[in-house]
Amino acid sequence: MKVGVSFLSSKDIVRDLKILNDTDVDYIHVDVMDGKFVPKKTMPFKEMRHISDFTDKRLDVHLMVEDASKYIPLYAELNVEYITIHVEIDEDIEKDLKLIKSYGIKAGLSIKPDTKVSELVPYLPYVDQILIMSVEPGAGGQSFIPESENKINEARALLKSYNMNAIINVDGGVKDSTIKMCHNADMVVSGSYVVLSDNFQEKISSLR
Ligand code: DX5
Ligand code: ZN
Repeated sequence: MKVGVSFLSSKDIVRDLKILNDTDVDYIHVDVMDGKFVPKKTMPFKEMRHISDFTDKRLDVHLMVEDASKYIPLYAELNVEYITIHVEIDEDIEKDLKLIKSYGIKAGLSIKPDTKVSELVPYLPYVDQILIMSVEPGAGGQSFIPESENKINEARALLKSYNMNAIINVDGGVKDSTIKMCHNADMVVSGSYVVLSDNFQEKISSLR
């Protein structure tokens, strides 16, 4: 199981990024919120870009924003492996996924807990990562929604039936007691479980 860590709940981002750099975490998961798609706002890109000064890890950027096409070129400058947008936004999803790929970056498409897995179907040819939200996007520290397990399994079946090999990632409330519900995923994102603990590596290892 690959593991990405979100620093959304960090009390000291620089300190936590430095600690994470010495773990075997696969990705730093960067949550971006605009105050429109979700109520809260994260720091502007001119501040967020500095995370690359404190980590050698590749980034898995999660855009919880309405105007994704404005954010994609900014985040494409960083050491990014994936940029993920939400299928629920009003933009032209196919165009945005192609924009991500035009930078040589892998494209992700995310669904909120109330969005059906079938919404992903038209975009599967352009998708390298399916991100299943296992909490309502917008805040760290929420509880894993158990129905997410079925969505992971549905996404797995969908990829198989269309003969596609995108990865399945799961985001929200992932910890030792919920990881078993993610066994059909390729990757999980964990935030507060790791960054609010006193042993990051131990917590990351418990998810693999
Ligand atoms: C939720 C974010 C998640 C979240 C993960 O809106 O997209 O990445 O911060 O944090 P935990 O693991 O605390 O749910
Ligand atoms: Zn996220």
